[in-house]
Amino acid sequence: MKFFIDTANLDHIKEAYDLGVLDGVTTNPSLMAKEGITGEENIRAHYKKICDIVDDKVSAEVISTEYDAMLKEGLELAAIDPKIVVKIPMIKDGIKTIKALSDKGIRTNCTLIFSPGQAILAAKAGASYISPFIGRLDDIGFDGMNLIEQIVGIYDNFGFETEILAASVRNPLHLIKCAEVGADVVTCPLSAITGLLNHPLTDKGLAQFLADYAKGNS
Ligand code: E4P
Repeated sequence: MKFFIDTANLDHIKEAYDLGVLDGVTTNPSLMAKEGITGEENIRAHYKKICDIVDDKVSAEVISTEYDAMLKEGLELAAIDPKIVVKIPMIKDGIKTIKALSDKGIRTNCTLIFSPGQAILAAKAGASYISPFIGRLDDIGFDGMNLIEQIVGIYDNFGFETEILAASVRNPLHLIKCAEVGADVVTCPLSAITGLLNHPLTDKGLAQFLADYAKGNS
């Protein structure tokens, strides 16, 4: 299972990378805006900074929504760095763009997936990754994890090579459930990754070990 961090915050990306468990990064226009990164030139320069931190797989999202413009923008984003994965929304022109980019050997991540049908279409178009949004489904009373399970089953039936990148993963429990149902990748904030570290019995046990060592070695 791969861990991606879902942020445009360079400190968080460095911290996750230094932990030694990071396989990639996802961003979106909202995450860029949250860091105060605006304007095409600055946004592209920021993607380059992210690529310089991590080993591979940095999702950079297109803003265009029509085929010709999406394809042009996708090619420009891919040219920033070989680590870029072009992130394309699940719309009709997006599917055509995924097909065109994948025919050129450019990796894509089809975002805003909320149904199994959308996942099938994106895989047929040759997407390298699909991003089903678990948290946003949970937010409106649907079971996000059930969608991941459905897609895992469908992709297994037909041997689709598209990787299931569970997105909108907000906490450690989401992450663990994704592991249980077989998501290939999770993308989440740093807090969901570091949250996996914590258990009160670990803290208690370590305090006891150190105290016993101190007693015998003072
Ligand atoms: C995925 O690529 C998105 O950037 C992200 O996971 C959305 O998460 P959110 O629903 O917490 O905003």
